[in-house]
Amino acid sequence: MGKITFAEIQKNEKIMQLVNMSNENLGIIGYTEHGIRHVKYIAKIAGRILEELGYPAERVELAKIAGWVHDVGNMINRQYHSLTGAMILFEELQKLGMDFADVCAVCSAVGSHDEEIGRPVSDISAALIIADKVDAYKARVRLDSYSLEDIHDRVNLSIYETHVRVNKEEKQIIWEMHMKDHATPMEFMEIYFSRMRMCETSAAFLGCTFRLVINGLVMNQIGAVQA
Ligand SMILES: [Fe+2]
Ligand SMILES: [Fe+2]
Repeated sequence: MGKITFAEIQKNEKIMQLVNMSNENLGIIGYTEHGIRHVKYIAKIAGRILEELGYPAERVELAKIAGWVHDVGNMINRQYHSLTGAMILFEELQKLGMDFADVCAVCSAVGSHDEEIGRPVSDISAALIIADKVDAYKARVRLDSYSLEDIHDRVNLSIYETHVRVNKEEKQIIWEMHMKDHATPMEFMEIYFSRMRMCETSAAFLGCTFRLVINGLVMNQIGAVQA
């Protein structure tokens, strides 16, 4: 047993297959992109949130690992994918020789990331939830099968610029995004409301507030953004 690094997880063939098949299955049933682009971004943002808030390097590394593997349960089924993913990883990460405590930390975060049944249970879990829920972006739309009748495709397609900012002094995690043309902020809220609430709960777990800023307008907090 030992310290398995994020770089090793990224290079692992079996995990790569799980990520790719999860993404393919979700494409077939009409979901937005959940492949390498998605998990790479989630790993980066989850790690950065903890790093910029001053968490130890080991927690940052585990947040990145959790980000990379969080959606593998979609290989089994979309429903309860957070739970099936955690169960797959509980076996696979041990086989890779990961410390048992680290396996549990990653599996807890993965098992708690879905908005239907999840809630933040640790620093890693909270960072993973925020990173996952703020990945709304035009690149998530599958260009070979999208439809402007589909509100998820329309909203994602409209989001052309996003930034996650962490302000340690003000204890704020800010998601600033810009949308145009295909959808309105109202439509975004229609499908992302519970996810944005989950970001607020997760930021609070980290001792912070979460601010959603759409086209320069703070949507969920009173007062100016301290960016
Ligand atoms: Fe997920
Ligand atoms: Fe995800």
